[in-house]
Amino acid sequence: MAAIKIHEENDQNVKSIAADIKPKNKILFKITKFNPHVDTHMKYVDYDVEYEHWNTVLDALLMIKHKVDPSLALRYSCRQASCGSCGMMINDKPSLACFTKINELGSDVVKIEPMSNFPILRDLAVDFTQMFNTHKKLKPYIIRSDSEISQSNEIKEFSQDPDSVEKYIQFANCIKCGLCNSACPTMATDSSFMGPQALTQAYRYVSDDRDKGKNTRLKIIDERHGIWRCHFAGSCSKVCPKGVDPAMGIQFLRSYLLGFRD
Ligand code: SF4
Ligand code: FES
Repeated sequence: MAAIKIHEENDQNVKSIAADIKPKNKILFKITKFNPHVDTHMKYVDYDVEYEHWNTVLDALLMIKHKVDPSLALRYSCRQASCGSCGMMINDKPSLACFTKINELGSDVVKIEPMSNFPILRDLAVDFTQMFNTHKKLKPYIIRSDSEISQSNEIKEFSQDPDSVEKYIQFANCIKCGLCNSACPTMATDSSFMGPQALTQAYRYVSDDRDKGKNTRLKIIDERHGIWRCHFAGSCSKVCPKGVDPAMGIQFLRSYLLGFRD
């Protein structure tokens, strides 16, 4: 088992802040290692980590990668819950590593695994290809009619009042992290299910009064692996780090198909 002191190895600013502070906390990280091209099964590797109260799970993983195991594969970019790259299972819950402080886990052990319901590329890095393909299939952009565009010679803003923006704004906060798909019990049993991420983005555009693509999108989602496979478990909404409520978006989307909304 390797022992890591995160506070000693961060960037210069953190190092100078931490210079006179002794680490107060120790915790065991159990991290999945798996290379699907070589390994027949996953294994857990243990690391003893010393941390300060400000450290995130991502801080610990990067220190482990830099000091002990450079082969550890993980994905990250922004470190501020904006890019959607660092999703993983942290103590069995789909979470962003950069948005999860170690001392808020309330546990002596931190178990780190790749996100459920995604193919594993290696270790903690999963393959987003299907999620992004489904997202694209549902046309995640404002659709205007061709005649409307060709008749208009002027370039103008499609302005909206605040009430119109309110209808979709929470759904526009999605960062495509995939945590909702990872938490979804339907995705666990139907790998072709469109999933809460894409369906919620369909609702985001259908509910935008500048958009004219509602019927096109409703047709796409009304299929065997589409919106009707959702059992409304609601687990997607519990894990979203951006306050999006995919379960509600899916129900609203259904109401169009059932004729309760225009
Ligand atoms: S709805 Fe939330 S959990 Fe799902 S992909 Fe978007 S930000 Fe992530
Ligand atoms: S690193 Fe960008 S969301 Fe975590």
